[in-house]
Amino acid sequence: MSEIEKIAKQIVEKDKGILAADESTGTMTKRLSSVNVESTAQNRLKFRETLFSSEGMKNYIGGVILYDETIKQKTSSGKTIPELIKSSGSVPGIKVDTGAKKLAGSTDEKVTEGLDGLRERLAEYFKLGARFTKWRAVYNISEKYPSELAIKSNAHALARYAALVQEAKMVPIVEPEVLMDGEHNINKCYEVTAKVLKECYKELNLHNVNLKGTILKPNMILPGNKSKDKSNTAEIAKMTLKCLKENVPSDVPGIAFLSGGQTEIEATQNLNEINKINDTNFIMSFSYGRALQQSALKNWAKNIKDTSNTQKIFNHRSKMNGLSTSAKWSMDLEKQITA
Ligand code: 13P
Repeated sequence: MSEIEKIAKQIVEKDKGILAADESTGTMTKRLSSVNVESTAQNRLKFRETLFSSEGMKNYIGGVILYDETIKQKTSSGKTIPELIKSSGSVPGIKVDTGAKKLAGSTDEKVTEGLDGLRERLAEYFKLGARFTKWRAVYNISEKYPSELAIKSNAHALARYAALVQEAKMVPIVEPEVLMDGEHNINKCYEVTAKVLKECYKELNLHNVNLKGTILKPNMILPGNKSKDKSNTAEIAKMTLKCLKENVPSDVPGIAFLSGGQTEIEATQNLNEINKINDTNFIMSFSYGRALQQSALKNWAKNIKDTSNTQKIFNHRSKMNGLSTSAKWSMDLEKQITA
């Protein structure tokens, strides 16, 4: 097994998942403002350092995705952030796209940018300690979208990104996110996600990406957040598993879902349900941003110095998600928040 194949497995196996802490400064500013904390580089570091130095990292977080600012910061004890993450047995990762920008040729759609100069940036991130990376493409569902153009151009960029990352000896996380915004039902989400995944794997194969050294970060199959149809967790799990089975090549070792606007408990419960019925060889895990951090951030904002309670909340969330990767989560355990 090659080094990148080993890393891809290490990040998601044994009840572990990924902490997506790669919010850009703009997004982090929105998150901090929502809890009335000023978004300074120091405050962004403090919150993240609180999470990265918690106990929950050791058993349940196999990898952390960082933002450019954070990977270059040092902790209060002088360690670099990648060193702090490694000290918990977790792998440091880095978001390398430069964001979703207006797609020329389509009125309301986006294409993710960041390929120019990527080879050089990857070499720098490797030196800083990163061993995996993330690139996120976004697709909106509406009557006429996503267009063929958005599906094809994003898949092409994802594949060029993934090939460059493997050349730099790191694991690419391939994230095609079909957004949950809208009135569409669960069947529409299924249909669009299937199309998007098919095109992504067509391009990844064309670009000779070794799928065994990648991780897929997809959305779950859900009804739109303004849909009249509500779906239960059993239906979500069944449709999600079916869509992945039909469209993801079996060489892909791990699938780490994004939370995409689900509540913390929904994200955990849905993953638990997926793992109850998972009859594939894919490791089904998580790569959550909001669903791992929301409650911890709210608590931290009340008293920045109270790291212990913030870590307690983060440890609990990490553990609940860790349990859901082997279908061992339950609502009873959810309520037992301990040390
Ligand atoms: P959410 O889990 O908050 O959707 O974030 C995951 C992520 O990294 C999006 O790119």
